[in-house]
Amino acid sequence: MKIIKAKDYNDLSRKAANIISAQIIMKPHCVLGLATGSTPIGTYQQLVERYNGGDLDFSEVTTVNLDEYKGLPRENDQSYYYFMNEHLFSKVNIDKNRTFLPDGTEEDSAKACRDYNAVIHSVGGVDLQLLGLGHNGHIGFNEPGTVFEKETHCVSLTERTIQANRRFFASEEEVPRQAYTMGIKTIMSAHRILVVVSGEDKAEIVREAFFGPVTPAVPASILQMHNEVIVIADEAALSKCEGLY
Ligand code: F6R
Repeated sequence: MKIIKAKDYNDLSRKAANIISAQIIMKPHCVLGLATGSTPIGTYQQLVERYNGGDLDFSEVTTVNLDEYKGLPRENDQSYYYFMNEHLFSKVNIDKNRTFLPDGTEEDSAKACRDYNAVIHSVGGVDLQLLGLGHNGHIGFNEPGTVFEKETHCVSLTERTIQANRRFFASEEEVPRQAYTMGIKTIMSAHRILVVVSGEDKAEIVREAFFGPVTPAVPASILQMHNEVIVIADEAALSKCEGLY
């Protein structure tokens, strides 16, 4: 595991974009695993800037995202498809037919997960998987207690997550109760993994996840067992790891 310290969020975003850019330049037809959430937004902005500057070509790139809410169509502004379109897909020359997320509108969970696993296998696996880190150590929607052996599966959101998401929806009934997510097994099968973490509020979980014991209680801790993981964290997020790396 390689830990790279960034000065701040902007520096982190630039460094992460540099690594993703290098991946695309070295292998134009690469498969990128992508994440939503607030942390990668700056990274996507940097990638868009590099594309606008003529330094990046997404025309042969394939993407597979980590997760999607069950029950939300792509047009819903809270869907992860909408997020990806807004922050990246609509702003670069990627072929939309090669951008994949689990199908949130598929009501048959087993089928949705089976289909998504098939997509990931059919594109030949993920060259570089981008991840954010949840405050409780989750990656994707793999919450504490998750089973490491799972591929894409359907998860029920905790009451806490449902309440936290409430503000984005007109009513509580509209808040999705479930999501489809790549499992830990899927994530661990990526050739390389790039984790981006920012902020003082993540300092504790960064220490636990990357320097504590490997345990399903902290899902991201399994990343210690992967041979090619790069963590880019800003000074604030690394503030409780002095002397550990
Ligand atoms: C996003 C995802 C989540 C986030 C995590 C961190 O697709 O699956 O695991 O990466 O919740 O989110 P932020 O970056 O908002 O702190």
